[in-house]
Formats: sequence, C-alpha cells, structure tokens
Amino acid sequence: MPEQTLCNHPSATATDRGGPPPTPVERHALATLREAARGCLETARGSHAWDHTLRVHALCRRMGLRAAADMVVLEAAAYLHDIGRAAQDTANGSVCHAVEGARQAGDLLAPLPLAEARKANIVHCIRSHRFRDDHAPATVEARVLFDADKLDAIGAVGVARAYLFAGELGARLHNSDLPPEKSRPYSRDDTGYREYMVKLRAIKDRMLTEEGRRLAEQRHAFMVHFFERFLKEYAGEC
Ligand SMILES: [Fe+2]
Ligand SMILES: [Fe+2]
Repeated sequence: MPEQTLCNHPSATATDRGGPPPTPVERHALATLREAARGCLETARGSHAWDHTLRVHALCRRMGLRAAADMVVLEAAAYLHDIGRAAQDTANGSVCHAVEGARQAGDLLAPLPLAEARKANIVHCIRSHRFRDDHAPATVEARVLFDADKLDAIGAVGVARAYLFAGELGARLHNSDLPPEKSRPYSRDDTGYREYMVKLRAIKDRMLTEEGRRLAEQRHAFMVHFFERFLKEYAGEC
C-alpha cells in the first residue's frame, strides 16, 4: 500500500498534525526507524508482515491526529511495534514480541537525537501494544497504537488475516465436529473460525480510545455477518 508519513502526507498542515511541523532531525529519525523496521520484518509470515505495520501506521495517523498525539512518537512506535515478531515466531510463541521488540527498539533509538522522554514513550508504546494483564498503555500514543493494532485484527482485514495465519500453520478450513474452544492453538484445528470465536469477537470491548471504539463496532459487525454466512454455506444451508 502507498505509504504516507507525517512528513510527506499531501494534505498535512500544521493544524491537522496537532502540533508544530516535524523538524529535519525528526524526519530523518523517522526515516531511519522505518527502514530498520522494514528490514526486521522482511522474512515475517504474511499475516504479520510489513504490510500489517503499514496498515497500523495508516490507522495511527488517522487516529493520532484526532487524539492530539505526539505524531513523531506515534509514527515511530507504529513502525517499530512488531520488530520482535521474528523472535516470537522462532520460539513458537514462548518469547513475547512486545517485550523483545521494546528491547530492540531501545537499541535502535539510543543513537538518535530525540529527547529521552520521547524515546521512553516509544519504548512504552511497543512494550504495551500487546496489553493483556500487565503493562497497560499509559500514554495517549500507547493507547492509539494499541487500538490501531487491534483494529487490524478485526473486520474484513482481520478475517483475511485469520485465514492467512491458519494457512501458515497448515490448519484446515473448518472443523464442525469440535467446538472452537476445545481445539488447540497452533494445531490443524486452529482455524479462522476458532480465531474469531476465541479472540477476535472480544476485541471491540477492549478498545481504549473513542475513535477506536467507533471503528471497532463497524469492523465487528462485518465479522458477525461474515461468520453467520460462512457457517450456513459450510452446512449447505444457502
Ligand atoms: Fe504485535
Ligand atoms: Fe501488530
């Protein structure tokens, strides 16, 4: 997808950025981080590849401007948020990519001429973007990134990614004999429908921003409709 940054978006103005225009130093730092992140995700599986990062980045731009976020922090965090993914995939899930990504981000940010508070916020955004029980997103930038990342897991894109991920695992299309909650993750029965029933249908209730909630309601409604139809077609009922 075409990529637009804070720096090159044709319609960006000082007002809709929610703050002063980025300095040349900030522009250079963002470009450096974007290329580093792209390199980290070159070999990632299709369901979590660079194009996911670009979609999250696009959502962050839209949502961050409305939330008056620090867009340099938010864009940097969006680019870097999944750089720990390869380590998690290699370890079959036993390494948390948010923890590993935050560690790697600290190393990438260290030589860059950004304020320490901004660097700390970027690392916090990455560490908290997978928030479950601890490390809740504590800044507006972290909350926007969390919502943008979750939005990309639901709706039409979310359904497509769920089946792409199932395919990467070698899973079957569907298993009508086994309730989704009884099938094992990372198994042949880790289907797109299981992903929806176990994870995706609960995401809309976890949004942290007003705009995130609004967009999640729309994407959720699409998934409900899709899976109602899917189950009927699978059973030969329509
Ligand atoms: Fe992630
Ligand atoms: Fe992500």
